[in-house]
Amino acid sequence: MKFFIDTANLDEIREAAELGILDGVTTNPSLMAKEGISGKANIEKHYKTICEIVPGDVSAEVISTDFKGMVEEGKYLSGLAENIIVKVPMIKDGVKALSHFTEIGIETNCTLVFSSAQAILAAKAGATYVSPFLGRIDDTNWDGMELIKQMAEIYAVQGYETEILAASIRSPMHIVQAAQNGADVVTCPLKAILGMLYHPLTDIGLAKFLADYKKVNG
Ligand code: E4P
Repeated sequence: MKFFIDTANLDEIREAAELGILDGVTTNPSLMAKEGISGKANIEKHYKTICEIVPGDVSAEVISTDFKGMVEEGKYLSGLAENIIVKVPMIKDGVKALSHFTEIGIETNCTLVFSSAQAILAAKAGATYVSPFLGRIDDTNWDGMELIKQMAEIYAVQGYETEILAASIRSPMHIVQAAQNGADVVTCPLKAILGMLYHPLTDIGLAKFLADYKKVNG
């Protein structure tokens, strides 16, 4: 399973990249706004910097919601760096745009996916990645993990090549369950990635090893 970090914060991206386990980055307009990145030149510079830090796939989202606008924006974004993946929302014109990008060889991430029906459309349109939003589904009292499971089954039965990118991850347990249920990729906040490190028995065990070493070595 690939690991992406879900942020536009450069320090967080660097910290995750230093672990040596990072395969890519996902951003969205809210994450870019959170970092105060605005204006074409700044946005362009920011994406280029992220793409230099992480050689893997970096999702950059279109703002347009009409076919023509999405195609123009997608072409522009994918021209910024070789590893840019154009992120397109799951709407009617978005599906049209995904199909077009597939035809012209631009890689895509279909975002804001909340059902298997949407996931089938994304796969049919040839999206490179499809992003089901686990946490946001859980927030509405449904089980996001059931969606991952169903999508994985459908994609396997149908032989779809689109990769399931589990998004809106909130905790290490989400990551573990996404892995168990067939996600190809998880995109996580840094906190969830670092949370995977923690186990109290590791801390207790390490403290004991160091104390025992000190007893005989001073
Ligand atoms: C996916 O690519 C999105 O950027 C992201 O995972 C959304 O997560 P959120 O629900 O925490 O905003």
